Amino acid sequence: QPPNSQMEESCVLKRTNCRAKGGAPGFKVAILGAAGGIGQPLAMLMKMNPLVSVLHLYDVVNAPGVTADISHMDTGAVVRGFLGQPQLESALTGMDLVIIPAGVPRKPGMTRDDLFKINAGIVKTLCEGVAKCCPNAIVNLISNPVNSTVPIAAEVFKKAGTYDPKRLLGVTMLDVVRANTFVAEVLGLDPREVDVPVVGGHAGVTILPLLSQAKPPSSFTPEETEYLTKRIQDGGTEVVQAKAGAGSATLSMAYAAVKFADACLRGLRGDAGVVECAFVASEVTELPFFATKVRLGRRGAEEVYQLGPLNEYERVGLQKAKNELAESIQKGISFIRK
Ligand code: NAD
Ligand code: LMR
Repeated sequence: QPPNSQMEESCVLKRTNCRAKGGAPGFKVAILGAAGGIGQPLAMLMKMNPLVSVLHLYDVVNAPGVTADISHMDTGAVVRGFLGQPQLESALTGMDLVIIPAGVPRKPGMTRDDLFKINAGIVKTLCEGVAKCCPNAIVNLISNPVNSTVPIAAEVFKKAGTYDPKRLLGVTMLDVVRANTFVAEVLGLDPREVDVPVVGGHAGVTILPLLSQAKPPSSFTPEETEYLTKRIQDGGTEVVQAKAGAGSATLSMAYAAVKFADACLRGLRGDAGVVECAFVASEVTELPFFATKVRLGRRGAEEVYQLGPLNEYERVGLQKAKNELAESIQKGISFIRK
């Protein structure tokens, strides 16, 4: 133990007590995969979020370095680092929200499904930890392929007897962020004024932007519809190719993850009218999981909204999305049940 570690621990305790005495609202958040390309900027942005009182940073490498760095930021959250499997339980105990960006990213030429082999096992292990140490936490699952990792997580929780479908959310926020950006470009608007629901899942044709429901209400030519739909569906690949082997989207993903996590925390706090898109257990289609708008509340995704009216182009897209999604969901379920 370094000589000053006792002093540091006592300072952290004082900070925690000081927050508690001040009645400062705050939630305990863990990031699993916190030293990665997404994890690091995500950790930095969560450290800046006033709704976070305690931030646990867990990874199998470099967690102490990232923690030391981020802990010097003069914002409210108390930061603690956890390295490797033996510290997973301490990282998770008492958490209100667990964000999971752990796992390998794509290289050019790969599909998200190509990541299944490695990431399925990582998600399984981490979710077993969640089931054991913080079964009531909300889980934001980022690791790809989301269309399969969410079903994997659900099966792990079912096996452990802790499954609450409202608390398990696959993060598809980056698709919405991209849709808002690209649609704003076409319309000549500020992206902050645009809101485009994106439904289905998070891979290729399963990403289905509902341009007919964009706000502000807008009409698009068939060429614009085709261009926007394809660009939103291929947004991840656009970044993977531009990074040329150095990984996939990390900075825009960290931004999207924080936007989504903040919405979950506002929901947990009891704010009214918090609505975002997410990949959740669903009865909106015949599939057991589907991304649509959900209302976030104290218990997680408290309401899953219907698709609303679709135009012909979107109805065709929906069928394609469902065909691919059905396979990816089944692959995730079979991984645990086999
Ligand atoms: P990265 O390789 O930069 O970081 C991943 C981190 O996970 C690394 O620090 C690694 O040490 C850690 N890790 C590996 N195994 C672990 C384990 N068992 N426990 C804890 N941590 C572990 O990758 P990245 O760019 O941050 O991407 C991470 C994942 O997020 C990838 O699967 C990627 O495809 C996915 N992703 C999803 C979205 C989305 O919209 N949902 C967007 C971008 C990326
Ligand atoms: C994304 O959409 O950027 C992520 O899912 C990463 C990827 O592999 O495309």
